[in-house]
Amino acid sequence: MTTDTRDFATWMGEVQARMEAALARLLPPAGAAPARLHQAMRYAVLEGGKRVRPLLAFAAGEVTGAAPERLEVAAAAVELIHAYSLVHDDMPCMDDDVLRRGKPTVHVEYDQATALLVGDALQSLAFFLLCEKPLADSPAAQIEMVRTLALATGSRGMAGGQAIDLESTGKPLELPELEFMHIHKTGALIRAAAVLGARCGSPLGAREAENLDRYAKCVGLAFQVVDDVLDCEASTATLGKTAGKDAIQGKATYVSAMGLARARELAEDLRRQAHTAIEPFGGRAARLAQLADFIVLRKF
Ligand code: IPE
Ligand code: IPE
Ligand code: MG
Ligand code: MG
Ligand code: MG
Repeated sequence: MTTDTRDFATWMGEVQARMEAALARLLPPAGAAPARLHQAMRYAVLEGGKRVRPLLAFAAGEVTGAAPERLEVAAAAVELIHAYSLVHDDMPCMDDDVLRRGKPTVHVEYDQATALLVGDALQSLAFFLLCEKPLADSPAAQIEMVRTLALATGSRGMAGGQAIDLESTGKPLELPELEFMHIHKTGALIRAAAVLGARCGSPLGAREAENLDRYAKCVGLAFQVVDDVLDCEASTATLGKTAGKDAIQGKATYVSAMGLARARELAEDLRRQAHTAIEPFGGRAARLAQLADFIVLRKF
């Protein structure tokens, strides 16, 4: 058993509140020049989102006994990359969405050029934060964190997955190609969140690192499978983003490829695999186990 007896909802609320404060502090002040860009960056990041990636970093940090002061910076770096990806994903040249986290998207509230720059600047800020203070056991381990996030974000990770998403719009994908796309566009950053969180604490042995990575791969894929399901099943009001858009835009999703029921079964199967992967950690992985459940069973 974990020694932390707070229930999952309480723990999640505490990490979310801690992250809101950390992000507010780490982002440039709204009044600093260029004020419009800084305001738009804050608009894109603050007051919204489930903060799943930071939660994963904190949960993985529990496995390695990481200090929260380090975790919040590593988690912020990942969340900034995520926020940047959403700002660009919503632009007219990509998914053309007007609603995000219950608010007008950045290019609607500001303008397209500002939305582009918000993404650029959030990405730079993420890497700045990873370099600014000691976060890992050694400088070499910290460079490894920078490398992990860079790989997860770029053309061999999230940006690559987004490119496949755009190329395949209007065309059905075979399951292996669909899995490849999802693992990249969403899975890579989720995986990086867990790896970075763990790195903030004591080093893991090779076998342990492999187990954590297997867990993170399963929840990363499950996350996007569930996103596809919710796009089809949930309402715009619950999601805070326009529901039903994947079908309208002809996106290749797990729902279009295998139907709702089988997509749900796949997410369930990935949840089981995630649990199995972290069994060797025992109580240290209690939060990771609860997060896998949250990611698959969530309604928003
Ligand atoms: C939405 O991510 C985009 C995907 C990668 C599927 P989230 O569902 O984590 O969005 P927020 O951060 O909670 O708004
Ligand atoms: C977005 O996937 C993935 C990234 C932003 C990298 P989606 O396009 O499915 O995300 P939503 O549904 O707009 O949140
Ligand atoms: Mg998209
Ligand atoms: Mg989208
Ligand atoms: Mg989606």
